[in-house]
Amino acid sequence: MAQKIIAGNWKMNLDIDQSVKLIRELNTEKFDSDVRIILFPPSLFIDRISKVIESSIQLGVQNFSNNYNGAYTGEISINQVKSVGAKIGLIGHSERRSYYNEGDDILRYKVNQAVKHNFEFIFCCGEPLSVRESGDEFVFVKNQLQDSLFHLNVEQIQNSIIAYEPIWAIGTGKTASSSQAEEMHKNIRLWLKELYGPKVANSISILYGGSCNASNSKELLACPNVDGALVGGASLNADDFSKIVQSY
Ligand code: 13P
Repeated sequence: MAQKIIAGNWKMNLDIDQSVKLIRELNTEKFDSDVRIILFPPSLFIDRISKVIESSIQLGVQNFSNNYNGAYTGEISINQVKSVGAKIGLIGHSERRSYYNEGDDILRYKVNQAVKHNFEFIFCCGEPLSVRESGDEFVFVKNQLQDSLFHLNVEQIQNSIIAYEPIWAIGTGKTASSSQAEEMHKNIRLWLKELYGPKVANSISILYGGSCNASNSKELLACPNVDGALVGGASLNADDFSKIVQSY
């Protein structure tokens, strides 16, 4: 069985005081111990806010370098983020792919770096609107996975999570319908089965991301192949984020 996960990607929002306030508000909520909760705050704040968390909420990083150490100005390594308590990192978010030109090669290096240093990751994939409109979304997403993730062997892939985030649904208020989400997740599971066998495929969590909020989360999370959500905007509000977790 895949683990149930609700993750919050804060992106480049909130200052330190607002971040601490949000964590304190989340501290007052009751969450089902069945659901793993992970927050991705700005990396700069991980050390500080990890000391404020009073629950099992874990922290992760929105990005990390494909290099391990050395002269890479402005970059942060797995080693460094682990040392302040990050448990997991995002790889291949569409905003990194499109604004910072992170292509398939860099993403594959990041995946390899994470595997080598035993750092769990969420690999993000998803098609732009033009691809969805042309009906090529399955080919597009499969290529993204083949180019940067599916080179891993059966032991290596087990420490990964996949997030399907259709780009046309990110920050647009336009969510994939539960049938669109389920259809893509079902295909991802099928590709995993073909490559790694049913046991491994069924144990890898596949999260949905893209305007997931307190009103649509219940329906999306009820889909058999949706094992959780990667929430952007709605994770910046304690009440909304808690409702999403509680709707699971
Ligand atoms: P929104 O929930 O704001 O659409 O963002 C989704 C996302 O990009 C999470 O990584």
